[in-house]
Amino acid sequence: GLAENSPMKEPVGSAVEDGTISSSYSEKSESTLSMTVVGASGDLAKKKIFPALFALFYEDCLPEHFIVFGYARSKMTDEELRNMISKTLTCRIDKRENCGDKMEEFLQRCFYHSGQYGSEENFSELDKRLKEKEGGRIPKRLFYLSIPPNIFVDVVRCASRCASSADGWTRVIVEKPFGRDTESSAELTRCLKQYLTEDQIFRIDHYLGKELVENLSVLRFSNLVFEPLWSRNYIRNVQLIFSEDFGIEGRGGYFDHYGIIRDIMQNHLLQILALFAMEPPVSLDAEDIRNEKVKVLRSMRPLKIDDIVVGQYKGHSKGGKFYPAYIDDPTVPKDSITPTFAAAALFIDNARWDGVPFLMKAGKALHTTRAEIRVQFRHVPGNLYKRNFGTDLDKATNELVIRVQPNEAIYLKINNKVPGLGMRLDRSDLNLLYKARYPREIPDAYERLLLDAIEGERRLFIRSDELDAAWGIFTPLLKELEEKKISPELYPYGSRGPVGAHYLAAKHNVRWG
Ligand code: NDP
Ligand code: BG6
Repeated sequence: GLAENSPMKEPVGSAVEDGTISSSYSEKSESTLSMTVVGASGDLAKKKIFPALFALFYEDCLPEHFIVFGYARSKMTDEELRNMISKTLTCRIDKRENCGDKMEEFLQRCFYHSGQYGSEENFSELDKRLKEKEGGRIPKRLFYLSIPPNIFVDVVRCASRCASSADGWTRVIVEKPFGRDTESSAELTRCLKQYLTEDQIFRIDHYLGKELVENLSVLRFSNLVFEPLWSRNYIRNVQLIFSEDFGIEGRGGYFDHYGIIRDIMQNHLLQILALFAMEPPVSLDAEDIRNEKVKVLRSMRPLKIDDIVVGQYKGHSKGGKFYPAYIDDPTVPKDSITPTFAAAALFIDNARWDGVPFLMKAGKALHTTRAEIRVQFRHVPGNLYKRNFGTDLDKATNELVIRVQPNEAIYLKINNKVPGLGMRLDRSDLNLLYKARYPREIPDAYERLLLDAIEGERRLFIRSDELDAAWGIFTPLLKELEEKKISPELYPYGSRGPVGAHYLAAKHNVRWG
């Protein structure tokens, strides 16, 4: 269980690796964990970070001594911060349970400091308040940057100069976007590394914290039956699908500058692809896993314009209700050609995956909300039951589906005889439905990732060479789309997306699942 990994039992070693250890450090000294949420007044902090911290506290995963600070420009007292976050704390573990006492205990450890993001003076004040609460223990300081990217470097500069831990460790969690192309991402990395070592930077991709994404490696490497099939010899194509049934809803200021390819494909879907396709790592050690992911990413062909379809949602009336177009959003320019949908065919030029299309599809304002990996297997050679499938043999192939969300599941589509005297075949599922098998609620991705950052476990965070390889696949295409001002194909809000996605799939002999 999580409690076994409690950071309280963390060996001294992880403090040493950030290189900030002082000679006075002794194993006997007590340490304390100080977490500062920078941008505490924002949406992500309220919706995800504070609730995840509370869930960790509730599950006894936080050390005995810890404090949480909110930092932002908004003026708030400690009490006002507590009021604000108390509204989004939930007893996730057992909804029937009244965990009021636990909440109160947690809230009493939360404080707030108001300041500017680029002010060393304000960060020195924060440092002073942190020290007061740390009560002379050795501080382990974690900063969570839940702020727009243009102020990342300012905050890192001020935090590292004025509020880093003198004798424990200092780590910084950074939220995407990590730049908007190869150059800006490299520039961001270069600037962050003026103040931090790579070991101190935890680049978050919250999809890596999702239960079924974590499970991908377990499925592949701890079952005999999957790994032998995991190659071009048996797999016809792989599909990575992300869809949301709502639009941009006021986030246009951010979204219009990035678009769906940068928002979802270059990070969330590509990370899943890398885990799916990597060679077996030497061990489960973070560097071994990330080495294999980088290898896959570097074996991928940069995406070409012929292998992508872009779309944007338009207004649509349904059941007496009008669903607005992307460009109707007040935060979006009227003439925007930013894609809210994209479908792409990607290829990995290595021995395992030569010629296998990896199809990605990501879109906002579609007919459903889901995230899935679909693996379509090849035809059975000389299939004895060919006649039973008529002309459409594609329908008879096996398909493995890993449904990341909602309603987590892993199922394998197989052919089966319908019981009875005749010989009728049926498509059926071997189905592992999580909520039927595991009644306990699944932790939110942010809980796992925060705990990992506290423990210094880097496996689920993005290393800078990985990030660079990921941008390498998309940057030439993104430039071309923008230089040629390629207009997206419009699709109605709530539809299945542009038909172009079907032509793209057909070109590679694929039918979307
Ligand atoms: P917000 O836009 O809510 O910004 C967070 C805080 O930053 C605000 O409360 C505000 O605090 C401050 N801020 C906002 N704009 C500016 C500005 N132009 N200059 C200086 N400070 C500013 O962001 P979110 O909470 O939605 O997201 C935080 C980070 O996480 C972003 O990088 C985002 O891309 C990323 N992210 C968000 C997700 C989400 O679901 N919301 C999902 C995945 C990633 P104050 O005015 O009090 O200083
Ligand atoms: C974020 C994107 O990274 O992921 C959002 O910026 C998207 O546009 C979100 O809505 C989806 O995350 P989840 O966990 O709700 O599937």
